[in-house]
Amino acid sequence: MFRINDNYLKLTAGYLFPEISRRVHAFTQANPALASRVIRCGIGDVTEPLPVAAVTAMHEAVDALSKHDSFRGYPPATGYDFVRRAIADGDFRSRGCIVADDEVFLSDGSKPDASAILEILGPGNRIAISDPVYPVYADTNVMAGNSGPALRGGGYEGFVYLPCTEDNAFAPCPPKEHADVVYLCSPNNPTGSVLDRAALARWVEWAHAHHALILFDAAYADFIRDPSLPQSIYEIEGARRCAIEFRSFSKVGGFTGVRCGYTVVPKELVGAAADGTRVALHDLWMRRWATCSNGVSWPVQCAAAALYSAEGRGQTRALTDFYLANAAILARACTALGLRAFGAANSPYVWVSCPRGLGSWETFDLLLQHAQVVTTPGAGFGRCGEGFIRISAFNSRANVEEVARRIGVLAPAAV
Ligand code: MLT
Repeated sequence: MFRINDNYLKLTAGYLFPEISRRVHAFTQANPALASRVIRCGIGDVTEPLPVAAVTAMHEAVDALSKHDSFRGYPPATGYDFVRRAIADGDFRSRGCIVADDEVFLSDGSKPDASAILEILGPGNRIAISDPVYPVYADTNVMAGNSGPALRGGGYEGFVYLPCTEDNAFAPCPPKEHADVVYLCSPNNPTGSVLDRAALARWVEWAHAHHALILFDAAYADFIRDPSLPQSIYEIEGARRCAIEFRSFSKVGGFTGVRCGYTVVPKELVGAAADGTRVALHDLWMRRWATCSNGVSWPVQCAAAALYSAEGRGQTRALTDFYLANAAILARACTALGLRAFGAANSPYVWVSCPRGLGSWETFDLLLQHAQVVTTPGAGFGRCGEGFIRISAFNSRANVEEVARRIGVLAPAAV
């Protein structure tokens, strides 16, 4: 009999968001009269239409495919030069970071990239992960065999967990013990905390001292409004020799359905082969893309590049401003109930303390049953997420205002 990947059997639960959908589905089946009242602030899926610049570029790109003289077949596996240049200029060089066009690898999103990156890393790396954080980092490393079995009470043996609590303002600190690979997410999903320059510089210093690799997920960088906060890890001296950065157009451009993101792999970044030889990750990632992908479609690449035009920039700014204003409404409503609300200022997520005596799944269930509001229980992001829920600001203004009213069911007198 052929063998399966036994590592999958270590996974303790289904992936978080399908599990939430399952519970919502069960609720609407049991309460059909309430189904149309459900407002989804669980998974961070965008609700507003695509920026006009992206739509126009996509239309033109599709039209080009309909004519012999402008038809295109396979795209370059790592992205067209003009798109990579727009990204390197727009997101990095304009902020004083050194990133060459050919260090940008276009893909169908940062989630697949965060998973695929493990293909070019060897077995046996010790993995450090913030807690709470986007569950993809832990789950993909379990699947790749980089963990031991699941631990009672949550988490997996073998990972170095970096607790992010109110005491450290939800900012992960470099651990005392060794790790080979660390995932940092800033702005953090789910807490909304952003690592400042000093904190990021400490991480870069730690990575050099441990010959470790930082996998920096900046999928929400465009929500940062505080000009003192870094948007890219390459704003920190020395980061090109220890860090890979993931970015996504899902939230900034409303591309959750369109699918596009990119990864930056600097050419100076080297890892060790089994015999100790130093090998550039850029070469391996390039090789991986050439073999495993035919790249991103022409209309989608044109749409991504259009986000960097003057018109596109104005429209993405308006889009992210809109979701940030939603986040502020939600945070204010939670604070008014006496709950502690974090994030929201430079992030589209509001991280909210559960009412006294309620766990995060209990709070999730209460909101679903009594307010028909879907949130994400903090425990789904890690053990340190217990005691919190995440409310996503990706919704229409009318729905957000309605959620702000309905979460009154969490008021101390009501619980
Ligand atoms: C989230 O809700 O955490 C994100 O939308 C999930 C994702 O980006 O894959």
